[in-house]
Amino acid sequence: MQTQQLKDLYGVAGKVVVVTGGSRGIGRAIAQGFVQGGARTYICARDEQACLQAAQEMAVGGECVAIAADLSTIEGCRDLAARLAAKETHVDVLVNNAGTIWTQPLAEYAESGWSKVFDVNVKGTFFLIQSLLKMLKSAASPQDPARVINIGSIGGFRVPDHETYAYSASKAAVHQLSKHLARQLAPDGVTVNVIAPGRYRSEMLEKAIALQGAESLLAPIPLGRFVEDDDLVGAALFLASKAGSAVTGAILPVDCGHGTVG
Ligand SMILES: NC(=O)c1ccc[n+]([C@@H]2O[C@H](COP(=O)([O-])OP(=O)(O)OC[C@H]3O[C@@H](n4cnc5c(N)ncnc54)[C@H](OP(=O)(O)O)[C@@H]3O)[C@@H](O)[C@H]2O)c1
Repeated sequence: MQTQQLKDLYGVAGKVVVVTGGSRGIGRAIAQGFVQGGARTYICARDEQACLQAAQEMAVGGECVAIAADLSTIEGCRDLAARLAAKETHVDVLVNNAGTIWTQPLAEYAESGWSKVFDVNVKGTFFLIQSLLKMLKSAASPQDPARVINIGSIGGFRVPDHETYAYSASKAAVHQLSKHLARQLAPDGVTVNVIAPGRYRSEMLEKAIALQGAESLLAPIPLGRFVEDDDLVGAALFLASKAGSAVTGAILPVDCGHGTVG
């Protein structure tokens, strides 16, 4: 295979990509990968300032546009879809990455924490896909399907070490929802897959590192390191490019072995 053919196999140039929660952490890393790959990349988060700043910084390497949105409600999902529809005719790749966590001892676990987690991680994922269905189908073709990439977690299949009950249940729900939607949307030329990250040093994990220390969090990870930006970008570009066009309904752990052989 020629170098150019290989580049085309993993290329995303010219695609329209949406990354939710793209203002920081895993979403920002993935968005940055798409921007550098030549995709017009939209990021969203609730904090408009942070979102604008991240988009401005990333746009140095290509095209990145910020749209603030709260994806914990159906109204927020529909609003984001309407604002995208005002700018684009289609969406080639949707990365549902926005997520949140709640940790509390079982006896006190708050209903508000449970709802907060499920509203963003599960309900938001579902209703954003629903809101963008027309635009995804507009991008779809049998040779080059539109792609939905949902960010799950190893917490969705490995029993977590912390009292994150709603979080692990929400990620298991995201995994199963993705498989269900993969079957439903295959005839429309839309693939639906999951990237299930292991421990990655975002704001979400830094709190745990501050409490327990990095060493104890690294101890159970077979490859002995945290997940890094390139690991996630590589997985996302694979699922979004020609290379990944035959993959649907898959849950791809990117976890240094933590959830799979740890
Ligand atoms: N870090 C890890 O070790 C790890 C491991 C496995 C899976 N994951 C998953 O990876 C994803 C990203 O996690 P992260 O660690 O990068 O988290 P993070 O640093 O806390 O980033 C979360 C992103 O989601 C946005 N967000 C949160 N609630 C939102 C809402 N209601 N509407 C729109 N955007 C919202 C945040 O921006 P605003 O706050 O401004 O809205 C931010 O951009 C999550 O789905 C998480 O479950 C993380």
